[in-house]
Amino acid sequence: MSKVFLLLCFLPGLLLVQAHKHHKKIGFYELKRGDLRLNLTNYGATIISVITPDKHGKLADIVLGYDSIDSYKNDTVYFGALIGRVANRIRGAKFTLDGKTYKLPANDHGNTLHGGARGFGDVVWSVESHKKHRHVTFTYDSFENEQGFPGKLKVSVTYMLIGRHKLAVKMIAKPVDKATPVNLAQHTYWNLRGHNSGDILSHTVQIFGSHITPVDRLLIPTGEIISVKGTPYDFLEPKKVGSQIQEGLYDMNYVLDKSFKKHLSKVVVVTDPVSGRKLELWSNQLGLQFYTSGQLNATKGKDGAVYRKHAGIALETQGFPDSVNYPYFPSQIVRPGEIYKHTMLYRFTTS
Ligand SMILES: *[C@@H]1O[C@H](CO)[C@@H](O)[C@H](O)[C@H]1NC(C)=O
Ligand SMILES: *[C@@H]1O[C@H](CO)[C@@H](O)[C@H](O)[C@H]1NC(C)=O
Ligand SMILES: *[C@@H]1O[C@H](CO)[C@@H](O)[C@H](O)[C@H]1NC(C)=O
Repeated sequence: MSKVFLLLCFLPGLLLVQAHKHHKKIGFYELKRGDLRLNLTNYGATIISVITPDKHGKLADIVLGYDSIDSYKNDTVYFGALIGRVANRIRGAKFTLDGKTYKLPANDHGNTLHGGARGFGDVVWSVESHKKHRHVTFTYDSFENEQGFPGKLKVSVTYMLIGRHKLAVKMIAKPVDKATPVNLAQHTYWNLRGHNSGDILSHTVQIFGSHITPVDRLLIPTGEIISVKGTPYDFLEPKKVGSQIQEGLYDMNYVLDKSFKKHLSKVVVVTDPVSGRKLELWSNQLGLQFYTSGQLNATKGKDGAVYRKHAGIALETQGFPDSVNYPYFPSQIVRPGEIYKHTMLYRFTTS
């Protein structure tokens, strides 16, 4: 038998195995309780919509997103996605761990952004459970050397409604065989007036972080930790986002004033004076990336919306950016036997 004949015999089988291995169905999963409704997909473990009432009881979708999965596949701004293996930027697209240097995809001006060219927001997750419209759990088995990262990693995220006003997001990751950096983040863009209502510059923000990790022009931390006092980054008291508007506006990691006595600390409160909607966020994380979407530029979204500059606010609780390259930043290395746990708790009310 010729090699070609053998190949022809086995190729369909091989393709079938490959196709089976990579085939997971993309679906939509709804959570609802009272007037609070979410739509999620296992493509990127993504939040597609969050519907809540305003102070008059009028419902609106308050997160930016797209109408079709094809648009999520094309997305370059991470609408609603679950980011990993390492959220934010890694300088020079490399790091050294246990004496070995790991090279990663350089997908952002020579650096790695949000887990690389194909991060956790660009893969199809498995659906472990979806119960009574109260919670959904997505899981993903990240393979050895995926986007250059060491070892296998088992990841899960649960989105769960608690009562009529709260959404909990629980992210868990377990390295299987090697130590690896882990820094997951939820990348929803909020606009409390409604996703299609223009910019968020008149939203009021309070951030419980009195320091930031300043960055260079490529948005990589310089390694300093400075006080927000006397800078436009001071949101210790509630302040309008646009009150000290500068070009580009905010894309900064805050060092949270975390209460180590409590599991969850209050991170940020956002209110929209027009709709009366208020969003509070608690987390167990040390950092918050506060991003006011200065890079959006006429992105076509849901229901014919066109999202322009400052159309939304991303509130990404996280470890500090580029921690893998700063030994004195809190470590993001998780070793086999250890468990990474990241909890976010959102509360939606009106006033
Ligand atoms: C969720 O979003 C998808 C994609 O836009 C849509 O087809 C589906 O109808 C939505 N489901 C709910 C319950 O809103
Ligand atoms: C996705 O991008 C491709 C290539 O740019 C384009 O042809 C296609 O129309 C896009 N699809 C959507 C849904 O935006
Ligand atoms: C926004 O997009 C348009 C069309 O693609 C482009 O001409 C313009 O330069 C962009 N503006 C910014 C600020 O990136």
